[in-house]
Amino acid sequence: MKTLTDTFVLANGVEIPCIGYGTWQTPSGDVAKDSVKAALDAGYRHIDTAFAYGNEADVGEGIKASGVNRKDIFLTTKHWITERGYEKTVAAIDASLKNLDVDYLDLYLVHWPCVEKISPEWKEINADTWRGFERMYQDGKIRALGVSNYQQKHLEALDEFATVKPVVNQIEFHPGYTQIDNVRYCQNHGMLVQAWSPLGNGAVLKDETLAAIAAKYGRSVAQICIRFALQNDVLPLPKSVTPSRIAENARVFDFELAEDDVKTLMDMPMLGFSGYYPEEAPADALVNGD
Ligand code: A2P
Repeated sequence: MKTLTDTFVLANGVEIPCIGYGTWQTPSGDVAKDSVKAALDAGYRHIDTAFAYGNEADVGEGIKASGVNRKDIFLTTKHWITERGYEKTVAAIDASLKNLDVDYLDLYLVHWPCVEKISPEWKEINADTWRGFERMYQDGKIRALGVSNYQQKHLEALDEFATVKPVVNQIEFHPGYTQIDNVRYCQNHGMLVQAWSPLGNGAVLKDETLAAIAAKYGRSVAQICIRFALQNDVLPLPKSVTPSRIAENARVFDFELAEDDVKTLMDMPMLGFSGYYPEEAPADALVNGD
């Protein structure tokens, strides 16, 4: 990867720019609109949002304000837990298309799996939701289907009934919390892994080990975290509403982490974990979206 527009190729052949601009916790209104425009001005061509973030409409406006052609942007949004089931899912996709004011999505993700703790029927519930995804994929409204926050057991259950396979799993991934077994499982089963909170939601930025590695390369800790994802074939989705940081997070193509530093980052003790984990802390028990 040499530029923001270099791509990973998904298992269904769709190309996806190698760094996405994240919008979790970006407030709705002008902040979201202006920061999405700033990201597109800085050269990002991949935007990640979700119905639950409450900013889809502003993301859509930011895209329009940028003047960049819709077809030159890779746009992802996510299905929320309140919309599970076939009919509700089909309606939810139409609602997101309307919010974003676009006529197709590049990628649509199940935001969180339904899990056993929430319902003994979790497999059937996830299957019904997925059928809605498949219908909209067949109808040409979505170019690629994926999931988010799925663990191996949820992926295996989905594989039993899916006729269109998920090509992405978006999970929390950063130094200090890599879920590496899940990452490698996905990569070995036709899924690109995307990293939400690749900077540990800011919580890893002051860590001494990370600071020492950053100093060695003359880079910021944020840039080290983004390289760490890329060098593990994980697609990072850094979020910032600050134009200087948006630009900084994209300047990661003129250096490479040595293997021993990647290993140090991989082996770090737990740091910056969000606490969100589907089986122990199901999304249905959460209130704020991710
Ligand atoms: P802000 O949006 O105010 O600029 P993550 O993507 O891991 O969830 O992290 C997002 C958090 O990290 C936000 O608080 C964001 O702040 C902050 N952030 C993003 N990029 C940088 C950067 N280059 N340097 C310092 N903080 C950053």
